[in-house]
Amino acid sequence: MQGFDKLSLSGVGVMPDKTSGARHVAIIMDGNGRWAKKRHLPRAVGHQRGVEAVRTLVRAARELGLDALTLYAFSTENWRRPEDEIAALMGLLRRYIVADIDEFVANNIRLKVIGDYRALPGDVVTLIDDALAKTAGNTGTWLVIALNYGSQNEIARAASAAAAKGAITPASIEAELDTAGLPPLDLLIRTSGEVRLSNFLLWQAAYAELVFTDVLWPDFAPQHLRAALAEFAGRERRYGGR
Ligand code: FPP
Repeated sequence: MQGFDKLSLSGVGVMPDKTSGARHVAIIMDGNGRWAKKRHLPRAVGHQRGVEAVRTLVRAARELGLDALTLYAFSTENWRRPEDEIAALMGLLRRYIVADIDEFVANNIRLKVIGDYRALPGDVVTLIDDALAKTAGNTGTWLVIALNYGSQNEIARAASAAAAKGAITPASIEAELDTAGLPPLDLLIRTSGEVRLSNFLLWQAAYAELVFTDVLWPDFAPQHLRAALAEFAGRERRYGGR
């Protein structure tokens, strides 16, 4: 099943130190719970270690020269999780923004949020708005965080907005997506062994390369990103042509 084999992301010999032509990488960060369970630790610890993986990977994305890194942090479906887990995730998001905003500013990182983040707790919304404002003038790597994001909802909102302005066409919908203005998605990675898109970037993934790995998110390190980019470099992209 070529193309659907899960990558070990460890056996790749030559790792690129650049992005192999990929400009925009998105990641479904999955497996925090299983990482914790394997160690008999609370799920919240898995999420905590997940944030450490985020921090390290954002730095690596900038150093590699990626134009955009989009991370699926909280889906519209994640509201179904127990209240204490949602609270723990919101707490981690708060702390991550507060701790790293100065680094984003110093490193020319542009923050963007996709999804309806205004439904998050009020103080988180304020922190996000503040961080967006502080990084709005930056010109480097986009860090795009998907929060209360669901792709079907995004497409429906975009189609309504396009219809309100005139004809519904692929281009008019695309211009209204939350990701408008970002480079096209090149590579979509999902960790933890699950092989599905879970309502993430369905439109944007139309011609993206997909890489699935068994590595659990807290263990996902820059070398895994580089291995996925090496895999990307070896794929032939035909966009439906030949
Ligand atoms: C999946 O693990 C991961 C999530 C639901 C959210 C990802 C969130 C983080 C990495 C932390 C917050 C993010 C930021 C940007 C500060 P899971 O709980 O579904 O794992 P499991 O499938 O093994 O149970």
